[in-house]
Amino acid sequence: MSDNEKKTILIDGAEQLAMNIAQYSSGLIVDDERILDVVQEHIIPFESFFDTYACAIMEMETKFNVLNKQFSLIYDGNPIVYIVSRVKDYDSILRKVIHKNLPRTLDAIEKNIRDIAGVRVVCSFKEDIYRLERCLLSQDDVTLIDRKDYIEHPKPSGYRSLHLIVSIPIFLEQGKKDVIVEVQLRTIAMDFWANLEHKLKYKKNIDPHRLEDLSKELIDCANISASLDERMQNVRDCLVKDQPVPQQTSEDMIDQLLNGNGVQ
Ligand code: GTP
Ligand code: MG
Repeated sequence: MSDNEKKTILIDGAEQLAMNIAQYSSGLIVDDERILDVVQEHIIPFESFFDTYACAIMEMETKFNVLNKQFSLIYDGNPIVYIVSRVKDYDSILRKVIHKNLPRTLDAIEKNIRDIAGVRVVCSFKEDIYRLERCLLSQDDVTLIDRKDYIEHPKPSGYRSLHLIVSIPIFLEQGKKDVIVEVQLRTIAMDFWANLEHKLKYKKNIDPHRLEDLSKELIDCANISASLDERMQNVRDCLVKDQPVPQQTSEDMIDQLLNGNGVQ
């Protein structure tokens, strides 16, 4: 077979493959095994990209679960009520890529989008948020990249939470990889508020006057909710003060945890 003949067969084959891939993409079942190779080749980098973030979430959740357990030995009850985590979905990442005008590469996404792995830690009391932050950031494999304290400085919407962008190592078959995780720490009251406000944000076809009224109402709710958090914290402080004086203060015990001495 001449070189030209070989080329023609190759081009014919490639065209057929391209046609089959197009049919496959539009939902048709196509009997062409070569498609499996093409699909695998394109899916594997995406799957391992998302898996990396899922692993980082597991690591971060474990860190908080361990702290929760240790704190429960010091205080009466667990500081963390619940943890909600998510890997940002492909659509939301793509929207951010377009919004930020980023190059369409996994490398650029990894460097520029810092909330692909998100861990939300919900506590009963404000004080526990800062205690958990102190313990998390004192761990030598956790690197703080950015910190936004929307509890001390609430957003104009009334939004309150402590946001930490941190990098943690995860250990994969190919070796160690530093992964960025967004950690949001908030009280139950802050979480209750943020979930409702989020619904309003995404409500479509809402009358602008109604939207303005509801936004004002939510700012009011945020202030009431913040003062409830303060009052509940004060009640707890009083309860803790009234307890029999321990040999060590809880802060001493946390220092021991931070210094790796464990609780005596
Ligand atoms: P993105 O908003 O993620 O693009 O990044 P950013 O750098 O502007 O971060 P920011 O700290 O403002 O917010 C990050 C996340 O916090 C959001 O994705 C929400 O989950 C949450 N958040 C921030 N502001 C608000 C708010 O006003 N209302 C609610 N419900 N959530 C908010
Ligand atoms: Mg976000």
